[in-house]
Amino acid sequence: MNLARQTKSELKNGSMRKTKLAIVGLGTVGSGVAKLLLDHGDRTARHAGRTLWLEKAVVRDLEKPRDVELPTGLLTADVNDVYDDPEIEVVAHLVGGLEPARTIMLRLLESGKDVVTANKALLAEHGPELFTLARRLGRTIAFEASVAGGIPIITNISQCLSANAIESLEGILNGTSNFILTQMDRLGTPYQAAVAEAQRLGYAEADPAMDVDGTDAAQKLAILAHLAFGAQVAWQDIPRVGIEQLEPDDLRYASQLGYAIKLLAEAKLVDGKLDLHVSPTLIQRRTPLAEVQDAFNAVRVVGDAVGPVFYHGQGAGQMPTASAVVADLIDTAVGRTRLTFETLEPFSTTSPPRVSLRNSDELPGRYYFRLRVKDHPGTLSAITGVFGKHQLSIASVIQHERNEATSPGGETDIVPLVIMSHEGAEGAARAVAEGIEALGVVRDSVTRLRVKTP
Ligand code: NAP
Ligand code: HSE
Repeated sequence: MNLARQTKSELKNGSMRKTKLAIVGLGTVGSGVAKLLLDHGDRTARHAGRTLWLEKAVVRDLEKPRDVELPTGLLTADVNDVYDDPEIEVVAHLVGGLEPARTIMLRLLESGKDVVTANKALLAEHGPELFTLARRLGRTIAFEASVAGGIPIITNISQCLSANAIESLEGILNGTSNFILTQMDRLGTPYQAAVAEAQRLGYAEADPAMDVDGTDAAQKLAILAHLAFGAQVAWQDIPRVGIEQLEPDDLRYASQLGYAIKLLAEAKLVDGKLDLHVSPTLIQRRTPLAEVQDAFNAVRVVGDAVGPVFYHGQGAGQMPTASAVVADLIDTAVGRTRLTFETLEPFSTTSPPRVSLRNSDELPGRYYFRLRVKDHPGTLSAITGVFGKHQLSIASVIQHERNEATSPGGETDIVPLVIMSHEGAEGAARAVAEGIEALGVVRDSVTRLRVKTP
């Protein structure tokens, strides 16, 4: 049935040129790409000025059920069917993780294919190696889908905003963690149930730990910081905190104080140095970033000419991500990718970095501290003394009386305490948390979150 549709589109387009494509990896994203190519051949042909002909789709397991109907003979478990077919010009590389994803991409380039990928982990880890090889072989790599799913943020930063010096960039870059936080906040869904639902919906990485521990957002931020600021930063060097430590209480207290909690990735130029970090952040409700729900992403970019620009859209999921991949396939087939690839030289190892990173201890910010403390005389003054010692000023304190809600079971003399600070440095906030933990009056560790300042 799909073969008929692909053929029909080709017949309708008469003598139109045909560019043969392959997909390696037919999971969540790959299936969406196949659907767009097979079901909307006329649409892609109109934009590409040629038929985009899906020749092969490579998977690991031929027996696995697929949620896309494929023409006979298209599915294969042998990636050599792609390497060895000289007529296949462009390949959507939609295998996750580092290996065999890296080897597959190297072999595709060596086999003369231009590549489109959604794999940000691979680019953040091996970008220079892959792009150097592509340049040496005269091939291209397009990667719009690697950051923020359906939002065309790569094209916007590297092309549409190219008249600007970018001053700052901040955003919600991980759809899974935003989905989890939304479920916990709106519906009171337990954390593990929300993670499982994000996996079921196809938002999460194969290893969802990367979504919730800040790794995925840091990998995306490293890519954006490279494009926007010329930073050459290993994603591992970006200070990052995940959402795994959050408890429903944090969302509740934040809400009482007028905030939502989001996993925020930030990049800001200060005195010629770049502040970079990923952390769960309290964001004032009824502001655009605080209202980003479910698996949506958002990015706010400030350029010196354009001022602030805000992008919002689905950051994970089958069809939004496939939308970005297919746009890249069209751009590659018509030669637009080659133009930008050659002029912008992404992940070049020959151009020196344009900025260096600021020491993370100097990062300015306001902070939320949540602790469970002994309900004894002197506890509060000992804690506030630690703030004084590290010159971090307290803005507000919430301590509820001990009751069934604050101390479930009522078996302990422990009460929750929430302290909001005025602006201080990251190093001071960390020292305060460590200092409080050393007092011996808190149960568990101190939860410390950033608070977004306007
Ligand atoms: P997925 O559902 O796990 O699909 C991965 C696919 O790769 C599967 O079809 C798998 O085959 C195939 N595969 C794995 N190893 C292979 C090998 N050695 N040879 C051939 N095929 C192989 O993953 P996904 O969610 O589509 O994500 C793919 C990439 O897109 C990842 O890099 C991810 O980070 C990125 N991404 C995902 C989203 C999203 O919302 N899901 C959004 C943006 C970017 P089998 O099916 O036979 O196991
Ligand atoms: N796992 C990723 C996310 C997919 O949830 O944002 C999109 O890159």
